[in-house]
Amino acid sequence: MSTFEDQIEQSTDQASLERSVARSHEIEQAIDQDPSRFRVLTGDRPTGNLHLGHYFGTLRNRVQIQNRGVNTWIVIADYQVITDRDGVGPLQERVLSLLTDYIAAGLDPEKTTFFTHSAIPGLNQLMLPFLSLVTESELHRNPTVKAELEASEGRAMSGLLLTYPVHQAADILFCKANLVPVGQDQLPHLELTRQIAQRFDRRYGRAVKDHPVFPRPEALLSEAAKVLGTDGEKMSKSRRNTIDLCMSADETAKVLKKAKTDSQRVITFDPQNRPEVSNLLLLASLASGQDPIELADSIGDKGAGTLKKVVTDAINDMLAPIRAKRAELEANQDYLLDVLRQGNERAAQQGYDTLDEVRQAMHMLYY
Ligand code: TRP
Repeated sequence: MSTFEDQIEQSTDQASLERSVARSHEIEQAIDQDPSRFRVLTGDRPTGNLHLGHYFGTLRNRVQIQNRGVNTWIVIADYQVITDRDGVGPLQERVLSLLTDYIAAGLDPEKTTFFTHSAIPGLNQLMLPFLSLVTESELHRNPTVKAELEASEGRAMSGLLLTYPVHQAADILFCKANLVPVGQDQLPHLELTRQIAQRFDRRYGRAVKDHPVFPRPEALLSEAAKVLGTDGEKMSKSRRNTIDLCMSADETAKVLKKAKTDSQRVITFDPQNRPEVSNLLLLASLASGQDPIELADSIGDKGAGTLKKVVTDAINDMLAPIRAKRAELEANQDYLLDVLRQGNERAAQQGYDTLDEVRQAMHMLYY
């Protein structure tokens, strides 16, 4: 692509990002006025432990949305695990561990529906009509698919990796969610989801009393803080620089003791020039609610050792109730399986209901 086209693409990206941010602010206000207008769907792949990057980035936000009274659905995306790997690993263990993290962090099975892809036939069946509504070249142009392909370093791409954004659209649309709290990187998926909803409507008309079958879901961009790992790089499992929600207080202290800092003794909050030190201050700030600059001032010339103690205490204090809840849940696998069974039942029923409307619109209802 020429630089000129690059610039156009970037500026439209920037413009649409700004629109999405502005729209997110409006939605936040609308939630306060009437949470019942919204249904949220979001989720994660069950591929590893949730860490503080997830917690500060999305999880804490989801709990708040739930507690503001928005009906919330969470997909534990087990079919997404097989997009880019041959085996599933210890999947049941990971699914239950993810569910444990969710509930320990404050998501409440009384208010939130947890479900797994593999248990929801209606969701998965939507994949067929949806695939007919997108072109193969659109799939190849999807930025996330492109990025994952590049990261795969020449390994063959499965058909499911190519089409998983469509499956993700089915996650959102089968339960008629109209709000998806996501990071910026997921915006193209949301755009595709809206296109699918719209194209379905255009092609098949409005099934019931002139109502569209599917809503047009919008992104809710959070102003979530992006925290780094203990080495100052992006926090991610593969870099082994995470602080996981399931770690003990001692493990957390140990990991933070080894965290990277710099050679300046006086602690200052300066993300540009001192990313590692500033990230530790940010973590302490997010965990304690204190201002990172004030935290830095109070540590002053006491150096990195004191900084590490401050951040360890802040995180361990914040995580203490989550850990206690986690331990309680871990000792009660039957309860976890029960929560999942009930969520899956509710989601499966919703899937059948939506599928009925879809069949009706497509003239494929044979009774
Ligand atoms: N793709 C998300 C992830 O990588 C998980 C996910 C699956 C999801 N389906 C979704 C997120 C639907 C939002 C909406 O973790």
